[in-house]
Formats: sequence, structure tokens, C-alpha cells
Amino acid sequence: TEFISVSELANLMDVSFAEVISKCMGLGIMVSINQRLDAEVIELVASEFGYDVEFIDMEKQLEMDEEEDADAEDELKGRPPIVTIMGHVDHGKTSLLDYIRNATVVAGEAGGITQHIGAYQVHLPNGRDITFLDTPGHEAFTAMRARGAKVTDIAVIVIAADDAIMPQTREAISHAQAAGVPMIFAINKIDKDGANPTKIYEQLAQMNLLVESWGGKFQSQELSAKKGTNVELLLEKILLEADILDVKANPDREASGNVIEASLDKGRGYVTTVLVQNGTLRNGDLVVSGQHYGRVKAMFNERNKKMKDAGPSVPVVILGLNGAPQAGEKFKVYEDEAEAKEVANRRAQILREQGMRAKKHITLAEIGRRL
Ligand code: GTP
Ligand code: MG
Repeated sequence: TEFISVSELANLMDVSFAEVISKCMGLGIMVSINQRLDAEVIELVASEFGYDVEFIDMEKQLEMDEEEDADAEDELKGRPPIVTIMGHVDHGKTSLLDYIRNATVVAGEAGGITQHIGAYQVHLPNGRDITFLDTPGHEAFTAMRARGAKVTDIAVIVIAADDAIMPQTREAISHAQAAGVPMIFAINKIDKDGANPTKIYEQLAQMNLLVESWGGKFQSQELSAKKGTNVELLLEKILLEADILDVKANPDREASGNVIEASLDKGRGYVTTVLVQNGTLRNGDLVVSGQHYGRVKAMFNERNKKMKDAGPSVPVVILGLNGAPQAGEKFKVYEDEAEAKEVANRRAQILREQGMRAKKHITLAEIGRRL
């Protein structure tokens, strides 16, 4: 493998590229300015200039930071499923999310103005909860995939029964399949003239996706997001899928999870929506996400209600980070302030270097001058 170019190496060592080229020539290696060098040559040349080279696998490094001790089986408890709704333009994703949100408002919460925070949790009459990601589904998946995070348990694929399987329907399906996330098909707009669910099942069958009523394994639900018809049946199917998956987490540990979105607010500073995936997040906790960190000053739900804590699958808005992490970035609570700072700063350094030598997984991270 080749790492950095002659000019990049020259930059790192603070010498001119001509000096590097002539050193290489001295070693019997002919190189040009933009030529990439392999590890052996880099080490040779660097040592000629009095440098030690350390190669760091950045992905490994980031993973190491994020590794946690596993939970024992008996510490795990059921948690609400996390659901993403995807589908083609205009097939009714927003209508479905809105209907579910409005239909499931708990009495005490009614009247609170809903903020769009990218995720919300609904509390069903049967006492169970479901968390919905309210970000454009494919974006959520791409961001998650880029960072290797798995945020969604179940994908609901919305297909308008008066239309057909469309390019973005296929895209949504392949995202879910690639991520290994089970799908439930919501056959929407059945109130419309011209709605033809059978045609949709046929098209799904042509893609090797057989719904249960056709003898296959995929749950599906015909519904009208606009009128609310059969939406509660879809919610039941989601819970059934969650039971099959047996989604669990350990609420009795420090929190970790993913960032849904983050921004800078003039009055409140950095505002970050996070989805807790394991543990419980509390006010005052020290959070690190990517290259940013800070203590949680306050937490809110999407109705702007102050929260003291947020357990597994709960989305919350937190104040107190010193920057805006990217969507899909992981977050984790640290006990020790010095360690939190060190982790965040090391990532900032890695990211700077990554930017410098765009898109390389392995880099020359540290060159210390020999005494
Ligand atoms: P994009 O966000 O643009 O991709 O669309 P979307 O999938 O979020 O669709 P949206 O919910 O905005 O619905 C598109 C149009 O279909 C709107 O005019 C809705 O009112 C209408 N619509 C959605 N669901 C239904 C339904 O069940 N029945 C009928 N008749 N219309 C619906
Ligand atoms: Mg929409």
C-alpha cells in the first residue's frame, strides 16, 4: 500500500519537496512530486531527515475509542423499537409520521408545541412505546452506513396503492436489505379511487419479496395515512416485529448512542438531538461525540418538556456540547473529564489529518524529531 505523496511527506517534515526528491535519488529511488510512497520508502526517507514514523489505522483508532464493555445477558431489558419510514416521493411518509404523532399524544402532553427534532417517541394505549426517526429515511441510512452505526431496528416502506413501486421504493428496500433491517410494507392511500394493493404485492413478488398474505415472510398493512384508517394495525405489526427481534438494552449504565442532528442556536449554544441506544443519559453527564464534548446542561423532549433522564431508544435534545457533531456520529458518556477531553482532541487531530490527505484510511500520524 502507498500512503502519502512526496509533497505531503515534505510538508509533514517541513522541508521542500526538492529535498525529498533528492534524498530519494540518493537512496537510488526515482520519484516525482505527486508520487505516492510506500511505507518502507517513507520510513527510509523520514529517517534520513531525522524523523520517526508511526502509522496509525484511523478506523481502528476510532473504533477503539468507541469500544465498550459488553452487557451481561441478565442486565438487558426490553426497549422500544426504533423505526424508520422510507419510500418514494409523495407516497405518504410525512402524512403517516404526522398521523401517528398526533393520534398518540398522551393527554398531559397535548398542547405542547412540537419541535422538529428528527425523532420522536409515541406512547401507545397498551403501555408500549415506539421511537420513530423523522429524518429523510435514505439520509439516515447513508449517514449511518458511513459511520458504521446501526440506528434503526425496523424499516417501514411506504408504497402508494394508487401508484407503483418506484425508483426510491427500490432504493429504500435495498438500503434496508443492505443494513439487514427487517421491513414492513405500508400500502398507503387505500382511500383513493384507483388504489390497487394487489398490483403492489405482485410487484413486490417480482422482486422476491412475498408478503405474508401471499405466503411470504414480510408483514404488510393496507392503510390510509390521510384518514388514519388501519394505522393502529401497522403499529401493532411494528410491535410484533420488535418482539420477534427481541430488542434489548441495559438501562443501568452510562449512556451511549447516536446523534440525529445538531446545530448552533444563538441563544442556547449547540443544540444536539441524540438517540440513546444503551444506558441512561442524565443531566450533568459528560458527553463525547466525535471531536466535541461537554456536560449536559439541560435535556428536552420534542414537546420542549424538560427531562431529567433518557433511557434506551429515547430521543432527546441536549444542550451543553462545545460543537455540533455530524448526524450519525456516535456519542458516549465519560466519567473522567481529562479522558473525555483527550478522546475528543485526538479525534479532532485525526480528522484534521484526514482532511489533509483526503480519504485515506491509514496515515502517517506522528513524526517526532529524534534527539
Ligand atoms: P416527500 O416527503 O415529498 O417524499 O413525500 P411524502 O412521502 O412525505 O408524502 P406526503 O405525506 O407529503 O404525501 C404526499 C401527498 O399525498 C399529500 O398531498 C398527502 O395529503 C397525500 N396523501 C398521503 N397519504 C394519503 C392517503 O392515505 N390518502 C390520500 N388520499 N392522500 C394521501
Ligand atoms: Mg415528506
